Amino acid sequence: MSNNLLKGKKGIIFGALNDQSIAWKVAELAHAEGAEFVLTNAPVAMRMGAINELAEKTGSKIIPADATSNEDLEKLIDGSMEILGGKVDFILHSIGMSPNVRKGKHYTGLNHKWYNQTLDVSAISFHKVLQTAMEKDAINDWGSVLALTYIAAQRIFPDYGDMADAKSLLESISRSFGYHYGIKRKVRINTISQSPTVTTAGSGVKGFNEFINYAEQMSPLGNASAEACAAYCVSLFSDFTRYVTMQNLFHDGGFSATGVTQQVIEKFGDN
Ligand SMILES: NC(=O)c1ccc[n+]([C@@H]2O[C@H](COP(=O)([O-])OP(=O)(O)OC[C@H]3O[C@@H](n4cnc5c(N)ncnc54)[C@H](O)[C@@H]3O)[C@@H](O)[C@H]2O)c1
Repeated sequence: MSNNLLKGKKGIIFGALNDQSIAWKVAELAHAEGAEFVLTNAPVAMRMGAINELAEKTGSKIIPADATSNEDLEKLIDGSMEILGGKVDFILHSIGMSPNVRKGKHYTGLNHKWYNQTLDVSAISFHKVLQTAMEKDAINDWGSVLALTYIAAQRIFPDYGDMADAKSLLESISRSFGYHYGIKRKVRINTISQSPTVTTAGSGVKGFNEFINYAEQMSPLGNASAEACAAYCVSLFSDFTRYVTMQNLFHDGGFSATGVTQQVIEKFGDN
């Protein structure tokens, strides 16, 4: 069922790797709600091929871009405006990667070259996207930009490693750029802090299965699914949320506001 919430809106969606990706679900729903968009991902992710299936399903074009490359981003923004016939109304940044987490490096024993890569891919790329878009005046007034984040930016989750630092930086970039883009063009910029979700990036974190069960039991509504996250993204791209900006928005079934639940307490028994 469609409500045409994004009818006439144009956008760019980063990060659809396969049908588990949060960005994939956003693309499907944005299409169903009437949006037109360009799909993009790192050239290496293109080789897996799944994105072609999504492009076909949603009638979209694909422009490969490494989100850490200013040159690629310039080509992406120019190419998207050409394909879509003008400026865009929304951008989704759904990108995360840590070589340290991937290779099991403990937070106290990071490879600092990889640490720079984590920050560049997972956070600074967001600044690069926004700066390129602003330089090219590529976003319409009242446009909406979102990045996906995780609560490890505020609280320690030991196995999330250096990604926690990347998410803190990402949320800060969203706030700072949200101020400047708001003043300049009334563009709103927010981060969505999503529940743990079974995806390629999510499953790369050590102990993910135990952790997702823990989060489920610590959330009064249960963990939010990727589909539910897509619905939240679409609402934030729509005209119904025009004055929401510079926020980190928890989409986590109540996890972030819960100290403990009865279900979890019961696991500890009597002393
Ligand atoms: N899955 C979770 O539990 C969870 C929870 C909260 C937030 N998030 C965030 O959601 C976002 C999307 O992740 P996902 O869970 O859908 O996993 P995913 O693995 O499907 O998506 C991550 C994407 O980042 C892309 N990427 C990596 N390096 C890139 C680069 N240099 N240039 C362009 N793209 C690049 C990958 O190709 C992939 O498409 C990430 O920011 C992630 O941190 C995920």
